[in-house]
Amino acid sequence: MNHIVLLPGDGIGPEVVEQAVFVMQQCGQQFGMTFAFEEALFGGCAIDAAGEPLPKETLELCQKADAVLLGAVGGPKWDVGPKERRPETGLLALRKHLGLYANLRPAIAYDCLANASSIRPEVLRGTDLLVVRELTGGIYFGDKERRTDDCGRTTAIDTCVYAEDEIERIAHQAFLIARGRRKHVTSVDKANVLETSRLWREVVTRVSLSYRDVTLEHMLVDNCAMQLLRRPTHFDVVLTENMFGDILSDEAAMLTGSIGLLASASLGDGAFGLYEPVHGSAPDIAGQGIANPIATILSVAMMFRLTFRRDDAADAIERAVQDVLRSGARTADLGVDRSQALSTADMTTRIIAALRN
Ligand code: IPM
Ligand code: MG
Repeated sequence: MNHIVLLPGDGIGPEVVEQAVFVMQQCGQQFGMTFAFEEALFGGCAIDAAGEPLPKETLELCQKADAVLLGAVGGPKWDVGPKERRPETGLLALRKHLGLYANLRPAIAYDCLANASSIRPEVLRGTDLLVVRELTGGIYFGDKERRTDDCGRTTAIDTCVYAEDEIERIAHQAFLIARGRRKHVTSVDKANVLETSRLWREVVTRVSLSYRDVTLEHMLVDNCAMQLLRRPTHFDVVLTENMFGDILSDEAAMLTGSIGLLASASLGDGAFGLYEPVHGSAPDIAGQGIANPIATILSVAMMFRLTFRRDDAADAIERAVQDVLRSGARTADLGVDRSQALSTADMTTRIIAALRN
């Protein structure tokens, strides 16, 4: 029995998680997998119901589970108020408490979606990269963040901190993953300016010596932002620190045509993982039933592959999604007119039908 905690969250989160559960149930039947689902409060809805974004019971449920499927958190309603009462603070705390230091965000440009991207098809063709983002360190977790007031002049401080071992473990993950891919790692930093980046570069270089079959290159983050658009096929594994990874993975999303397609996995040292679409809660379209469920469904595929070691079911989901996209099925985010766009539920129905075949 596979124990999965569902954290639907806010906005379109519940809509896409519901669809992903249908896909899991179909896979259960087809591949003889059994699931026990438990749903918990997380994010803005938890602030409303329990006064905090990550209630203790939610964290404890996650700690006991085999995997977590998260929708999305946040929304304008919770953008005011103190930091402790922000959904995003709950997300960072969840990642930290669960030790999920490795965030994997694949970006694949499907030929059939070439027109959905704002980049020219000939530049995109063949793009298949994976951002490996450090997720529990850096400026997101600087412990000296504060504001000071000097005679009415308010100053805010965030600090970026990285310890050697934090860089080492994420670098090992990146090189190991690269071995199963095209054996090329681009490590992204800002070593011409930042001390944390200079340490990053040193440590990554040292770790690379244990993976002589993998090619390592270093790239400055500003240049990387440019190269991703200029020649995306250059990249295989993009290894980077927390904030650069946040930014570059949104950029990479636009190579695929829509952030509605991007899945992610957050892992620690074991098989446990937290899986979530890269997109946010999209309050502007919440409740309309038009969100693209594919990012969450592909996150389930990552869960099956990385936590449950079920490549068969994971491959089947990915194939079903591709078949459906190839057949021309589109949700509204994929560059079709709203009148021709499929609803969230209809897109899932097509994917489940493709799975059956
Ligand atoms: C992401 C999101 C989060 C992040 C926010 C919601 C805290 O942008 O997962 O990329 O910055 O990590
Ligand atoms: Mg982000």
